[in-house]
Amino acid sequence: MANRQFLITAALPYSNGRLHVGHIAGAYLPADIYVRYLRATGADVRFICGSDDNGVAAIKTAREQGRSVEELTAHFNQSQKQSFDGLGIKFDIYGGTHQPDYVELHEKLSQDLFLRIHEKGFFNKKTTRQLYDVEARQFLPDRFVKGTCPKCKSDNAFGDQCESCGASLDALELINPVSTMTGTTPEPRETVHWYLRLDQLQPKLAEWLESKRKDWRPTVVNFVLGQIDEGLPERAMTRDLEWGVPVPLDDPDAKGKALYVWFDAPIGYVSFTAKLCENLGEGWEAYQNWWKNPECKVVNFIGEDNIVFHALTFPAMLLATHNSENIQGDEGEYQLPENVVANAFLNIKFPGKEEEKISKSRGTAVWIEEYLNDFDPDPLRYYLTANAPEGGRTAFDFEDFLNRNNTELLAALGNFVNRSFTFAHKYFDGKVPPAGTREDIDNEQIARCKTAADEVAADLEACKFKSALNRAMQLARDANAYFDTTAPFRSRKTDMDACGRAINVCCQTTRALTTIIAPFLPHIAAKCRDMLQLDDDAIQWSSATDQLPDGHALGEPQFLVKKLDPEELIAS
Ligand code: MF3
Ligand code: ZN
Repeated sequence: MANRQFLITAALPYSNGRLHVGHIAGAYLPADIYVRYLRATGADVRFICGSDDNGVAAIKTAREQGRSVEELTAHFNQSQKQSFDGLGIKFDIYGGTHQPDYVELHEKLSQDLFLRIHEKGFFNKKTTRQLYDVEARQFLPDRFVKGTCPKCKSDNAFGDQCESCGASLDALELINPVSTMTGTTPEPRETVHWYLRLDQLQPKLAEWLESKRKDWRPTVVNFVLGQIDEGLPERAMTRDLEWGVPVPLDDPDAKGKALYVWFDAPIGYVSFTAKLCENLGEGWEAYQNWWKNPECKVVNFIGEDNIVFHALTFPAMLLATHNSENIQGDEGEYQLPENVVANAFLNIKFPGKEEEKISKSRGTAVWIEEYLNDFDPDPLRYYLTANAPEGGRTAFDFEDFLNRNNTELLAALGNFVNRSFTFAHKYFDGKVPPAGTREDIDNEQIARCKTAADEVAADLEACKFKSALNRAMQLARDANAYFDTTAPFRSRKTDMDACGRAINVCCQTTRALTTIIAPFLPHIAAKCRDMLQLDDDAIQWSSATDQLPDGHALGEPQFLVKKLDPEELIAS
């Protein structure tokens, strides 16, 4: 069988701020785990991300901070890249929709897609009224208008989306709109825009989403099917804005207008893929092998606030380019995603305080840059996966983070590997002792390794990351129980063969754990691999239960997990 082929994307972060734990838990960490796992199964994978530089988020922050948009986005593009690197979130490319090396291809592919949809007749050019800020003398981008949500009546709604209920909105629908630029009440004025005919694309979208009902997370598919039930309106895909991808039409009405950021941003996945292909010497057009190839599965990892755009708007854009009636897309046409995997938001809980929302403005966040100054990456990867907001919100709780590091990661995994290695070094000359004649208890433990590898794989295939990690940790807990029961610390005084037999099984279990934990805890797994003196291929899933031969020389024991001291954390 040919290798499976996957194109994995993680939502492009806005390049107007630093990354915090909520971003990581929402999209990037699960995507990275999935990619590492797929690669371990031999799949051909490309992992794409980069910054979302266009649109209003960047303009707004640049204005507030008195810097140019170019400088701001370049700065945060780099800062984000470093945070990802520090956590071992390893993209094949980290682009940026307005970064110098990327902007040209990005504009080209975005404009091509726009023109294609235009040619297929799925845009409606309309004159509408939009909110105009008289004082600032400009039309207000959605994000510059705040008001009351017409659906849930929360005051936390912007012109494009309600932050409370997630409904996607038109700025004119807002009750009591206020310009965040000047604080004045904006007035509706006429302007021309191009609207995507989501209403016409709706039947195909509905059919496609229905076919995903059983495979996708219910939070994703139910949400968008709910929107479809309400009926999809046309949505403007252009804006009165200077910063962004220019509207590529030879039409006086297109002057001074840019593509809507939610139109061009997901095309960033495509344009960064093209750039990667170019960098690899395949030519940029080789992106089609990933995007227009029915053999390649595209999977998008996102946070819950991005569901509408990834499960409705972007697929609608891709559908609109098709000639074929085939919803998924024929060979040579843009393929719709195989899966859109969304996590809920992560709240935060500081010691002695109530659980609250992560907020940049209130300073209630744990920034990755700061975390990495004080701690190793894997404890955070562990905690954010063990406590992942997969089915609904969870909270980053400092005390819980410490506790789980000490009582789970260290107590189960760290200790097991550590005591097994210490024994092998102290009593068996740093070598894997002979397996001897295994008894039932030994065979059972060896069998557990295989079952764990299979069950973790099944969970990972289904994007059940939390359950997968828990299952992997179960193997470590079982291994500790095996160690306690076979008691090599006793048999070493009475029966060296029995002691060696147990330590052999412990080494084999460590071998299996190395592969199984690698997608979640790559830095710890790399240490285990070193200690076991195995090469990179050791993380191939099919080799998880390969047996270390008797007498296999082991490397020096290393500490895998540090104990975290509550005092230290509170001080930081
Ligand atoms: N910048 C958006 C956010 O942070 C995500 C964009 S995802 C993309 O919410 F597909 F549009 F790029
Ligand atoms: Zn609302």
